[in-house]
Amino acid sequence: MRNDDVKTIGILGAGRVGTALARRAVAAGFDVRIATSKPAADIAFLLEIMTPGAKADQAETAISAADIIILALPLSKYRALRPELFAGKIVIDAMNYWAPTDGILPEFEATSSSSEVIQAYLPDARLVRSFNHMGYHEIDEEARSPGDPDRRALALAGNDPQARRVVADFVDRLGFDPVDAGTLAASRNFAGGTPIFGAKLGRSEMQSLLEGKARALSTAGSDA
Ligand SMILES: NC(=O)c1ccc[n+]([C@@H]2O[C@H](COP(=O)([O-])OP(=O)(O)OC[C@H]3O[C@@H](n4cnc5c(N)ncnc54)[C@H](OP(=O)(O)O)[C@@H]3O)[C@@H](O)[C@H]2O)c1
Repeated sequence: MRNDDVKTIGILGAGRVGTALARRAVAAGFDVRIATSKPAADIAFLLEIMTPGAKADQAETAISAADIIILALPLSKYRALRPELFAGKIVIDAMNYWAPTDGILPEFEATSSSSEVIQAYLPDARLVRSFNHMGYHEIDEEARSPGDPDRRALALAGNDPQARRVVADFVDRLGFDPVDAGTLAASRNFAGGTPIFGAKLGRSEMQSLLEGKARALSTAGSDA
């Protein structure tokens, strides 16, 4: 898939992050479909108010129609996703593990890279982690045109280079400077508790932080 082929965005989750991303995606000219665990009719009115221009849908049809799917549901609900629907699809994982709200989930306690757990659960999805390190209100308020000196950077990581390129273009169209951190394992470098998480950074600052982390990882590897 080329960047220009991306027309339809399917968002799973109509909460704080899902609706913020939907508003940006509608503003950028995408066809946006949103689904939750409820029937589409139950969220149609909410979406008319919160995300004018986005369409309420069922998960199955939203996923099938979408060129990019965004996971914006609580991480604790990931096992409700049906892996077979995601085969071959580019999927953005915007979720974070936060035990006080998600509860203690052993598979996420054991890793600092929650997206690798999600990729293992959705083995045929082309998963890219992004949008997880920015607050939902900042997605709405801090989007800027390319070249704006205040434009914020957004990191992304995934194992499929072409999916990363497509997601980078999507991030750019939503109003942020994409910074490619590399494979999904590198997504731990912008997870909760890292200096990037919640920080307002420009592209070069973020690149320096991510390159420093990558160097530290490779040094640790060569010492081992
Ligand atoms: N809040 C932030 O600033 C922020 C920033 C970055 C990332 N995140 C991450 O993004 C994710 C969502 O956060 P949020 O704050 O937007 O949560 P939220 O406001 O609680 O919204 C969660 C949404 O997910 C829906 N949902 C639940 N189960 C679902 C399922 N099986 N399929 C589809 N949708 C489902 C919920 O609707 P129903 O229950 O009606 O189905 C609800 O619309 C979390 O993992 C969070 O860590 C949050």
